[in-house]
Amino acid sequence: MSLRAERRNLSRCGLRLLRSYAPRNDLKEKGNKHVKYVVGIIQPDRLDEVLKRLTDEEVHLVTVSNVLGRGRQKGIAQVYRSHKEQGSLLKKVKLEIAVNEAFVEKTVKAILGGAQSGQIGDGKIFILDLHECVRIRTGERGGEAIG
Ligand SMILES: Nc1ncnc2c1ncn2[C@@H]1O[C@H](COP(=O)(O)OP(=O)(O)OP(=O)(O)O)[C@@H](O)[C@H]1O
Ligand SMILES: [Mg+2]
Repeated sequence: MSLRAERRNLSRCGLRLLRSYAPRNDLKEKGNKHVKYVVGIIQPDRLDEVLKRLTDEEVHLVTVSNVLGRGRQKGIAQVYRSHKEQGSLLKKVKLEIAVNEAFVEKTVKAILGGAQSGQIGDGKIFILDLHECVRIRTGERGGEAIG
């Protein structure tokens, strides 16, 4: 093979190598860039209403846990909301929802709509960038694996 042909071949190989890497990186970027993790801490008695509103917004996948917590009032229980558990901690419910960015505002709207009474202790919403999501059954990742 002539030197020229060899170089051409090499550069084609190089290109092929580049191509085989590039889409993966693109996909990784695409898959994860707009994936968020919404964490909502709410009053336990608001759970049903929040779940209903999430469903109305087509947000169906959710993790729910019973948790203990305290906010600015350092766990001082209100008479009308006596969910006091132990020490300075109050019973709350935590919702965790991984969504594509397009659903973040719908998710926040549903939690606010269902949990906001205007009284102290209504709860809080945290929105995090989600590094990765993997559907165990298929191995799908990123945005594909979310819903
Ligand atoms: N900065 C925080 N970090 C971690 N968890 C928090 C934080 N703020 C609130 N929480 C959690 O949210 C729950 C409810 O908080 P809460 O609604 O009392 O917030 P707040 O800041 O005290 O607001 P408010 O004045 O309306 O009561 C807490 O019991 C705790 O579990
Ligand atoms: Mg508080």
